Amino acid sequence: MADLSINCAGIKSPNPFWVASGPPANTGYQAERAFDAGWGGVVWKTIGDPIVNVSSRYSALNLGTTRMVGFNNIELISDRSPETNFREIAEVKKRWPNHAVIASLMVETREQWHEFVKRSADAGADGIELNFGCPHGMCERGMGSAVGQRPEVAEKIVSWVMEVATIPVLTKLTPNITDVVYAGRAAKRAGSNGISLINTINSITQVNLDNFCPEPFVAGKSSHGGYCGPAVKPIALNMVQNCAADPEVQLPISGIGGISNWRDAAEFIALGSTSVQVCTAIMHYGFRIVEDMAEGLSDYLDSKGMKSVNELIGKAVPTLQKWETLDLHYKRIASINYDKCIGCNLCYIACEDGAHQAIALIPPNGHGLGPGRVPGKPIPEIKEHECVGCNLCSLVCPVDDCITMVSVDTKRAKMSWSDYQAKVSRGEMKPIPAHP
Ligand SMILES: Cc1cc2nc3c(=O)[nH]c(=O)nc-3n(C[C@H](O)[C@H](O)[C@H](O)COP(=O)(O)O)c2cc1C
Ligand code: SF4
Ligand code: SF4
Repeated sequence: MADLSINCAGIKSPNPFWVASGPPANTGYQAERAFDAGWGGVVWKTIGDPIVNVSSRYSALNLGTTRMVGFNNIELISDRSPETNFREIAEVKKRWPNHAVIASLMVETREQWHEFVKRSADAGADGIELNFGCPHGMCERGMGSAVGQRPEVAEKIVSWVMEVATIPVLTKLTPNITDVVYAGRAAKRAGSNGISLINTINSITQVNLDNFCPEPFVAGKSSHGGYCGPAVKPIALNMVQNCAADPEVQLPISGIGGISNWRDAAEFIALGSTSVQVCTAIMHYGFRIVEDMAEGLSDYLDSKGMKSVNELIGKAVPTLQKWETLDLHYKRIASINYDKCIGCNLCYIACEDGAHQAIALIPPNGHGLGPGRVPGKPIPEIKEHECVGCNLCSLVCPVDDCITMVSVDTKRAKMSWSDYQAKVSRGEMKPIPAHP
């Protein structure tokens, strides 16, 4: 069985699964429930000057019968006193010495940062996370994403923190920025031990068409909320990879954003995360999801012959390159498994109206068709020479592994866009004519 234990920027935990700063990490009671269920770490709900929250606070994007594909909130940091939070951190740490407790902090002045960093260490926290990401409420007060969006301000505050920090510091980055790499570089310059990303994305999930107010609303008004949950995973993965690949950032990463199962976690780790944090999926399904996550990750590592999760960290980072390096002579085409096909013809419509008219409808001709087929109904057939390998039909097909994309040998040597440009400029080949 693969070793799941990690050391993220000096913060050790028995596995890479951490509860992200948010409602599930609000109290000592919850932190202990999380550890009991199998989480390796908890990033405490952000501690600062206690705030007052509004009612209501959450909204969601549902897709068909799937609830909370995206989730949005207008909640602020902890509404509990720093005394209570630090006392509970100390109590939890005493009972769970081998699990990671990270104090998430957000305050304003240099003196306050110094005070809260010291209090975190005194409470026995294993590390500190600087919340430079909250995109609502706190940023209006000059904190949260107001800091994270300005790398020079973030750099200054991280350097204040590092003046007194005796435990590892993770700087949590906001995705509400043109290029997250600049914020990652600022954290590195100021001496942060690692970065965590992403915090929530500015969003409006829905407008109530009776009172014309976006959800969630508070007495007929709303405010921009922070978006998270499965819908943000692609954005988060991209930002994690950007930071992992940047030669100037080169810091341990705690990956966050839409992680709900072991596969999501493995993808974040392969793109450069050492630990992964989860908020929305716990709010949806509870702490027990970590059991499947740990078992799934462990089985996956075993199947790949990896003895430790550390072998997976960053494995996929180098495969992401500039578009101009991709091989223009590589080709894949769609292939239909007629034993699985149910004859819905969604692939035909998608290719005909939304892609390259590379699927024909032909008489069944004795082809075996999957369950639910209508006898005599035409079936799809790939026109292999017309197929550009865009993947659309395989994405719309409702049956798993019914349409697969297969590589074809083009018998042409690899040529990227930059190779092509160089050859054309040297007069070694003529420009390829555009499609008619
Ligand atoms: C209701 C709610 C409250 C949150 N509060 C905090 C917070 O206090 N501090 C913080 O750093 N992040 C906070 N977050 C952001 C999460 O830690 C996390 O970065 C984000 O939700 C993305 O992860 P997810 O897709 O797993 O939810 C909050 C998220 C939610 C949904
Ligand atoms: S979408 Fe899939 S199941 Fe439907 S007709 Fe096409 S190949 Fe068959
Ligand atoms: S891969 Fe694209 S072009 Fe080829 S058949 Fe499918 S939808 Fe059409």
